[in-house]
Amino acid sequence: MSQTYDVIIIGAGAAGLMCAIEAGKRGRRVWLIDHMAKIAEKIRISGGGRCNFTNLHAQPQYYLSQNPHFCKSALKQYTPQDFIARVRHHGIAFHEKKLGQLFCDGSSKQIIDMLLTEAREAGVKLETATRVHEITAIAGGYQVKTNQGEQTCRSLVIATGGLSIPKIGATNFGYETAKKFGLNVIRPRAGLVPLTFGGTLLERCKALSGLSVEAEVRYGKQVFAEGLLFTHRGLSGPSILQISSYWQEGGALIIDLAPGIDVFMHCKEKKRSQPKQHVNNRLTEILPKRLALSICDDQACDGPLGSLSDQKLANLARAINEWQVWPTGTEGYRTAEVTVGGVDTRALSSQTMEAKQCPGLFFIGEVVDVTGHLGGFNFQWAWSSGHVAGQAV
Ligand code: FDA
Repeated sequence: MSQTYDVIIIGAGAAGLMCAIEAGKRGRRVWLIDHMAKIAEKIRISGGGRCNFTNLHAQPQYYLSQNPHFCKSALKQYTPQDFIARVRHHGIAFHEKKLGQLFCDGSSKQIIDMLLTEAREAGVKLETATRVHEITAIAGGYQVKTNQGEQTCRSLVIATGGLSIPKIGATNFGYETAKKFGLNVIRPRAGLVPLTFGGTLLERCKALSGLSVEAEVRYGKQVFAEGLLFTHRGLSGPSILQISSYWQEGGALIIDLAPGIDVFMHCKEKKRSQPKQHVNNRLTEILPKRLALSICDDQACDGPLGSLSDQKLANLARAINEWQVWPTGTEGYRTAEVTVGGVDTRALSSQTMEAKQCPGLFFIGEVVDVTGHLGGFNFQWAWSSGHVAGQAV
C-alpha cells in the first residue's frame, strides 16, 4: 500500500530536526510536525541563550541509562566532531567554555537557523501547531490522525522529548505512545535540577541565597567538583544539578565546601601558631564570609582558636569538608533541564533506534532512557540518535 509520506516525525526539537534532515537528504518524503506554534524552544533557551551544542568528550560514561552500553553505537556513528563540522560549514563561530563544553559565540538562534535551513534544503515538510489525535498501526506502516488531517507513513519517529519545562511544549506523549505499542517505560524523573530542603537548613540556604562556592558533591560513587549555589529553595549550581540526576529520594549528599583544604589540620595548626585569632576570621580566609559565619553559628563555634577544643574544631571541619545534607526533593520539571528515564532501551535497536517489536516505529532524543551529564551531552545524544534514525527510516 502506498503511504502519503515515507516518514512522519512527531516533535520538531533537536532530535526530530536532525532526523528529518538526514531522512530528507536520503530522498525520503518527510512530514515533521510539532504541537507548538514555535519550535526548537529548548535550543533557543539552552546554554543561557548561547546553546551548549555539544561536548568534546561525549563518551558513554557521561550518560545515565538502565543500559549504559546502549548509547555507544549512535554516539560512535555521529560524533561531536561531525556536529562541529556542520556548525563550521554554516560559519557559526563557537568557543570552548570549559570541560569540553562548546557554545555559540553569538546566539542559540544560529543553531536553530542552521537546522531549519538544512531541513528546507532537504525538502522536509514542517508543520507547527499540529496536534496528534491518534496513531494506528496499519499494513506496512502507521496512520497518524491530526488536527491538520490524516496521513500515513512507512516509518514513524517519536521525538517528543522529556517532561521538563511544560510551558514550552513538553508532554508525556512519547511515553504514552511507547506504552500503547507495548514498550516498557523506565519511570521518568526530573534530572539536572536544583534540590530543595526543609527545616533549619532551608532557612540557612535562604539566608545565603545568591552565594556560590566551588564544592565537591558526593552521592554514592558519584562525585562532581564544580560550582554550588545557595538559593531560596535549597541548593543549585552545576555540581548540584549533576548529582541531582543520580540522587534518589531519602539519600544523603556529602558536600566538601573547601575541596583540597583539610580544615581540621588547618585550624589545629593555626590554634598552635595564632591561638588568639578568632575562629570566624580564620574561616573567612577559606570560605566566603557569609558562609563562614553561618557555619560557625550553626556549630555554635565562637571565640579565639586557642579557646576551642580539638573536638569542637573537628566538628566544625566536618561541617565544611563533609557536610551531610538530606534533600527533601527537587524543584521538579518546572526547572529541570532533562528527564531521567524514558523509553526502555531494551525495546530499541541501538544501531537505528527502531522498536524491535514494532517495525517502522522509532524513538529518538530525550524520550529514550538515555540522559547526559550537564555540558552539551544531551544535545549530542539528540543529534546522534536523530542522525542514526534518519539513516534507517
Ligand atoms: P525537545 O524537547 O528538544 O523537543 C521535543 C519537541 O517535541 C518539542 O518541540 C515539543 O514541542 C514537541 N512535542 C512534545 N509533545 C508533543 C506532542 N504531543 N505533539 C507534538 N509535538 C510534541 N542540553 C545540552 O546539551 N546543552 C545545553 O546547553 C542545554 N541547555 C538546556 C537548558 C534548559 C533550560 C533546558 C530545559 C534543557 C537544556 N538542555 C541542554 C537539554 C536539551 O535541551 C534537551 O536534552 C534536548 O532539547 C532534547 O532534544 P529532543 O529533541 O529529544 O527534545
